[in-house]
Amino acid sequence: MTIANTFSREELVNKATDLKVIPTLNGIVEKVFNILGNDNSSFSDLGNVVQYDQAISSKIISISNSAYYSRGIEIFDLQRAMLTIGFEEVRGIVTCLIFMENILKKLKLKEQDLFALWRHSIQVACSAKMLSKRLLVEDPAKVYTISLLHDIGKIVFYICLPDYGETMKALNGNGQDIASLERNTFGIDHQEIGRVIAIKWKFPADFINIIRHHHENQNADKFGAIFRLVNTSNRFAHSTHDPSSSEGIILEKEKDAIVQEVDKIMDFLQLG
Ligand SMILES: [Fe+2]
Ligand SMILES: [Fe+2]
Repeated sequence: MTIANTFSREELVNKATDLKVIPTLNGIVEKVFNILGNDNSSFSDLGNVVQYDQAISSKIISISNSAYYSRGIEIFDLQRAMLTIGFEEVRGIVTCLIFMENILKKLKLKEQDLFALWRHSIQVACSAKMLSKRLLVEDPAKVYTISLLHDIGKIVFYICLPDYGETMKALNGNGQDIASLERNTFGIDHQEIGRVIAIKWKFPADFINIIRHHHENQNADKFGAIFRLVNTSNRFAHSTHDPSSSEGIILEKEKDAIVQEVDKIMDFLQLG
């Protein structure tokens, strides 16, 4: 499997550095990530930020009025809507929306690439969050957010290379590592590009670390507990995981529940 090599390493790094997303959002991404990454943040901290963003507020209201939450009572205000859904769910939804609507869509990815990246990211996020809860490792909400963003470097490849999405699809499950294929072709992979974006967008240090190293299976112990959760969940999503580890066994057992949760979120976001 190959990818057409039409860009140099330098051109890809420049592209990552130039992704102009945050300025158009008036800093809301940075504020929300600070809140999501802070264990002491509260409902009202989050509400204070998202109330000014029409897309996010309206989505939260619409989700709170869905049959799953509303129990027939109409909900009109944001605070009430957030209380109805619950803090952890709201954090998850806000992260998804920021990532999806404000970042990916603005970057004008092809619909089908957007969908593939989105579904993969959310599957890794749901898996890693579940492992975090089961194994009592790290804060599940933080694990969820990091996982959702682990492949952010792929955005640059999707934008620059028309056949990247197809290559990804063909690679999925055949055991070949996309990161090493990228390195062999371009001298850089989506982990390193992701790091460039993560630093530029001022993500927390843990986020940058995971984004930079999430394919380094052999170094699992070097990067701490949260790394194992994301790394195992990522390999599980690509059907190349190690089913003998405790994480692998749990994921295998919970496979159906994870797919259900992914479908539920895709539904919420009207992507199903
Ligand atoms: Fe990756
Ligand atoms: Fe991934």
